[in-house]
Amino acid sequence: MNSNNSDFTDLNIQSKQKLYIETYGCQMNAADSEVVISILQDNGYQTTENIDDADVILVNTCSIRENAEQRVWGRLDVFKHLKKKKPELIVGVIGCMAERLKEEIIKKKKIVDLVVGPDAYRDLPTLLETSETGQKVVNVLLSKEETYDDINPVRLDKNHVSAFVSIMRGCNNMCTYCIVPYVRGRERSRDPETIIREIKEILELGYKEVTLLGQNVDSYYWKTTDSNNHHHELTFAQLLEKVAKISPDLRIRFSTSHPKDISDNVLYTMAMYNNICNHIHLPAQSGSTKVLKLMNRSYTREEYMNKIMAIKKILPECAISTDMMTGFCDETDDDHKETLSLMRWVNYDYAYMFKYSERPGTMAAKKLSDNVPEEIKSRRLTEIIDLQNKLSKTSKKQDIGKIFEVLVEGTSKRSNDNLVGRNSQNKVIVFPRENFQTGDYVSVKIEKTTSATLIGYAVKTIIKTAY
Ligand code: SAH
Ligand code: SF4
Ligand code: F3S
Repeated sequence: MNSNNSDFTDLNIQSKQKLYIETYGCQMNAADSEVVISILQDNGYQTTENIDDADVILVNTCSIRENAEQRVWGRLDVFKHLKKKKPELIVGVIGCMAERLKEEIIKKKKIVDLVVGPDAYRDLPTLLETSETGQKVVNVLLSKEETYDDINPVRLDKNHVSAFVSIMRGCNNMCTYCIVPYVRGRERSRDPETIIREIKEILELGYKEVTLLGQNVDSYYWKTTDSNNHHHELTFAQLLEKVAKISPDLRIRFSTSHPKDISDNVLYTMAMYNNICNHIHLPAQSGSTKVLKLMNRSYTREEYMNKIMAIKKILPECAISTDMMTGFCDETDDDHKETLSLMRWVNYDYAYMFKYSERPGTMAAKKLSDNVPEEIKSRRLTEIIDLQNKLSKTSKKQDIGKIFEVLVEGTSKRSNDNLVGRNSQNKVIVFPRENFQTGDYVSVKIEKTTSATLIGYAVKTIIKTAY
């Protein structure tokens, strides 16, 4: 009887269409891929990690810089060979590049069967059905409301410790260099009840950490009217508090904060709840007020510094990281020096650094001249990377001798005898395994550092039991 049953299941599985998904870009894209899989699994698709098995390949794309798009064009050429071997294979481009280029993608690469933008994923099952008939399909409609709030994402992370939850979509900021508002549409916040519900479910599955995602989390805002006609509103600081109260065993992170919007209330909420991690990613982009103005970032160097001072005062243990861009329009050597001096002044724990890449259709592309020569962009990038390496090294050295609570994410890549996890400040820590497991909270004393990690040993354990 058992074997009959399993035969039946096997047959069922074999008849399902196999989906392979590849994801580029930011954490929001990663979270979207989890939504896409959920939608398609509910419609009879099964995911595979082996591209050669796939009946459908979806590539979830990013347009933030030109090289992000170049990678995808390269991948599409690889898929072309797969399609030669398997003509019925369906290749779809989804995400930000789909939204930016629309049917142009199909014109440029004949192997592409469907193009679907970030707000049209609910339509994927129908669109895929149409492409199975050999028709090319495109849906790149942006929405003012879509937040996929009722969809339970299929978690793709490997460790089952740390999950991402989108709290909003889109962006209203219009930084002049940025393609995001064009490909992700207007900003909209997600119903807090569905956020809380999703996080409780994650917790029940054994997850210990959640990262709340949005392009500008500080402008999260939800307003409701109850049956007595009373209005209720919820800001990001209040949402953060609600999430922190779900369980003291759940760590909370969030990204990205915007220097013009992060409020002292957010900082005080962080100070009040131990389980909200001591880390703020606060992209500066540049240290020059002139360049910031050209970027339309809506803050000056001094205003940015004031935010940093508030963070250091209210949250003395808080790690601070940034995104920096070199070679934006009209950036002079003096502007660049201001970026370097800001980095030194803040003393960032880490940074993501980029060369400005002009994006067609943005305000900068229309109104400003991409006039910093490539070799100067590169030289400035090397300089900020070198400086950040020094700052990161000093920041790690200062951790020697300290004890941190580490949430274990898994086995260290280098050695089976070691575990790896992160502290509240988001620093990676490696220590001997002993009897600890993935998902445990362990107190680790730091002994030494390498370029990327802190190395220590367990001193006293606070093992949080599973749910
Ligand atoms: N919403 C976030 C950032 C999203 S994009 C914020 O406002 O901070 C991530 C980073 O990519 C940006 O912070 C910026 O540093 C970089 N970036 C965006 N557009 C870019 C462009 N055209 N060229 C180079 N880097 C860019
Ligand atoms: Fe782009 Fe600016 Fe919005 Fe960030 S805040 S996504 S950089 S427009
Ligand atoms: Fe890229 Fe889209 Fe994210 S452009 S950075 S994947 S929102």
